[in-house]
Amino acid sequence: MSTEVEKNIYMFPKDFWWGSASSATQMEGFSGADGKGKNIWDYWYETEPNRFYQGIGPDNTSLFYTNFIDDIQLMKETGHNSFRFSISWSRMFPKGRGEINPKAIDFYNTVINTLLENEIEPFVNLYHFDMPMAMQEEGGWESRSVVDAYVEYASTCFENFGDRVMKWFTHNEPIVPVECGYLYGHHYPAFCDFGKAVQVGFHSVLASAKAIKAYHDKELGGKIGIILNVTPSYPRSNHPADLDAAEKADLLFNRSFLDPSVKGTFPEKLIDMLRVENFIPKYLTEDLDIIRENTVDLLGINYYQPRRVKAKENIPNPNAPFMPERYFDNYDMPGKKVNPYRGWEIYEKGVYDILKNIQENYGNIECFISESGMGVEAEERFKDESGMIQDDYRITFYEDHLKWIHKALNEGANVKGYHVWTFMDNWSWLNSYKNRYGLVEVDLNRNFKRTIKKSGKWYKELSENNGF
Ligand code: BG6
Repeated sequence: MSTEVEKNIYMFPKDFWWGSASSATQMEGFSGADGKGKNIWDYWYETEPNRFYQGIGPDNTSLFYTNFIDDIQLMKETGHNSFRFSISWSRMFPKGRGEINPKAIDFYNTVINTLLENEIEPFVNLYHFDMPMAMQEEGGWESRSVVDAYVEYASTCFENFGDRVMKWFTHNEPIVPVECGYLYGHHYPAFCDFGKAVQVGFHSVLASAKAIKAYHDKELGGKIGIILNVTPSYPRSNHPADLDAAEKADLLFNRSFLDPSVKGTFPEKLIDMLRVENFIPKYLTEDLDIIRENTVDLLGINYYQPRRVKAKENIPNPNAPFMPERYFDNYDMPGKKVNPYRGWEIYEKGVYDILKNIQENYGNIECFISESGMGVEAEERFKDESGMIQDDYRITFYEDHLKWIHKALNEGANVKGYHVWTFMDNWSWLNSYKNRYGLVEVDLNRNFKRTIKKSGKWYKELSENNGF
């Protein structure tokens, strides 16, 4: 056995994608500059700043817009061979459609070119929770006209950047706007309305399929996919009522996007559930053809923590507004491992279960782990005398997940890479800068100064050795 193999027990295939993910609103900053229009986050911060942790909004997040040249050097120093960012729809089209902002084209062109010069492959996502305000005023994803505007935006991106970008994604975690914006009232427009949520979900699926069609029609030679937060639903026990509860959660929160994106159809059981409750969305017959004929080439999987469920213990009030929780209760499993700095469960085997599910039930489509990460509150407490954050907990977190990915690979899963969330500490929706995830620290008190964390150094070794 060679020393290299002895040293690196977990070796990954040649050309494995090592990198990280990010999104425009969370790291660009300069939200009111250079012709960018408002999106729902800019608007919400302007009108209700107290919703945001410590009153910090999306206007000046991490300053990638001006710092990207140096940041890309740091990506090299942290071992990136690929990097996912999103294009800001409202930077490209300040009003959501129509007039294009030339400064946005320049900015994204320069980012893409700089990444390529540094041998970092750009993975570009089109929609990461950032509806342009003008489009929200038209109804956001509830409205069919917004689907058409999104396709115009997507096509413009393909035309301008598709000669160099070979990996595209239509949405990041489209279930999140459905849940947070329309079911649980956390994100703008903060509705709690199951009917609206189903319509938003359907239009997001349709928009994705139409963008995939537009991309394939242009024959640009790359691949297009979607990024889904696939959250395994584990039942409390093997009792049929618990199994049924877990299946319903899986249908609502995973298969609602996974099946149409990969197979081109919605699960029959999901349709039955919605029909019984009279929640079938408005659609045209041709929409179903578009969805069936335009499935993804590639699947990104975000995984943070599983969902644990049990059968409902109390009979739900039939007069209460309909919510998914009519079908199941969340289950707080005793003894589960928890990230003490963020409160989320850590269950590394979840990533293996997802990959096996994709292998066995979704044609083993080409996929990669597109987000995996450990959020930490008040992370500056882990700084050593030199000022470097000693985030050994994060290194352990990554290694433990990679071991399960490695096992899935050995068993034939078609998994091509591992992207962490995230490259540098960034702003996160209502939590602002509360939970830090970066391989690189961003110090808000020192003009957003960047310092590589211990995990950033470790990530470079990981990528150089192609294993650990
Ligand atoms: C992911 C999202 O689900 O979770 C990211 O794609 C987000 O946009 C990340 O930042 C972490 O969330 P939080 O709330 O812990 O900061």
